[in-house]
Order: sequence, then C-alpha cells, then structure tokens
Amino acid sequence: MGLVVKLVFVVFAVNFILACGPIHNSNGAINNDSLGTVSSDIFSKTVQPIIENNCALCHDGSTSAVAFAVSDSNISQNTLLNFDLVNLANPTASKIVTKIAAGHNGITTDVSTDLSLAIEDWMLQLSESE
Ligand code: HEC
Repeated sequence: MGLVVKLVFVVFAVNFILACGPIHNSNGAINNDSLGTVSSDIFSKTVQPIIENNCALCHDGSTSAVAFAVSDSNISQNTLLNFDLVNLANPTASKIVTKIAAGHNGITTDVSTDLSLAIEDWMLQLSESE
C-alpha cells in the first residue's frame, strides 16, 4: 500500500472506532462496564449501602438470586447494569425499585423509594463530575 492509502485507512479506522462509543441498551444502561470507577465511587455512597443493608442476605452470591449485593462497588454496579436491574434514564422504572414496590420477601416499600432516590442521586452526581 502507498503511504497516502495507508493514512486514509488509518483515519477511517480511528473515526469508525470513535463513532461507536459505549453500547447503550433500551434502558439507557451501558452494557460494557464503561461507567467505570468514578461512577462506582458515587454508587458506593448512594445505592450500594441500601443494597448491602437490605438485599445481601440473598443477593450476595450465596444463593441462586442475582449477585449484585457484593462489597466490590464496581462489580455490584456492573452486575446491576448487565442484568438490566437499574434504569438510569428513569430510576422509578428500575427493576430493583419495582420489584420491592410490588412486595419482595417482606421488605418495606420505603426501601423501594429510597432506592429510586439513590439512583437519581447517583446519576446527578455522575453528571456533575463530568
Ligand atoms: C430472602 C432473600 C432475598 C432478599 C432479602 C432479597 N431478594 Fe431479591 N430475589 C430473591 C430471589 C430468590 C430471587 C429470584 C426469584 C424472584 O425473581 O423472585 C430474587 C429476585 C430479585 C429480582 C429479579 C431479578 C431479575 O433478574 O429479574 C430483583 C430485581 C430483586 N430480587 C431485587 C432485590 C432487592 C433490590 C433486594 C433488597 C432491597 C432484594 N431483592 C432482597 C431473594 C431475595
């Protein structure tokens, strides 16, 4: 290949890679763990404490229930995202919110409201950090 052809190819390839970006699913969640550690730091101070206090008994990997209540905030966040259990664009529609609101193992519905507000707070702080 001539130099010009090579350069054109490289510019094309770089543009293609940049244009793709993270993959969003229908819930606005990002499927490739790209929210990263800035996000999981905020997550660890908003959503995660509620989950650890109310869900860890079963969702910590010790049962067959999805293991999102683990101490590593990055893994906890990404598990929620990858199983589509949080709706970042519409926190009240998140499965972790609706599941508790509908009644789940006797957990009070206050926890559902707290989770929804915490997801909202997480997204607000994340947008302010960018
Ligand atoms: C006593 C055990 C127990 C506790 C405590 C518990 N869960 Fe669950 N959870 C389960 C089991 C078992 C399932 C799978 C069966 C089902 O869907 O109900 C489940 C399923 C779910 C699902 C559906 C997952 C999916 O893939 O659709 C969500 C969402 C969920 N739990 C959220 C929570 C949240 C949020 C908490 C804490 C606020 C919590 N659970 C606390 C046992 C528990």
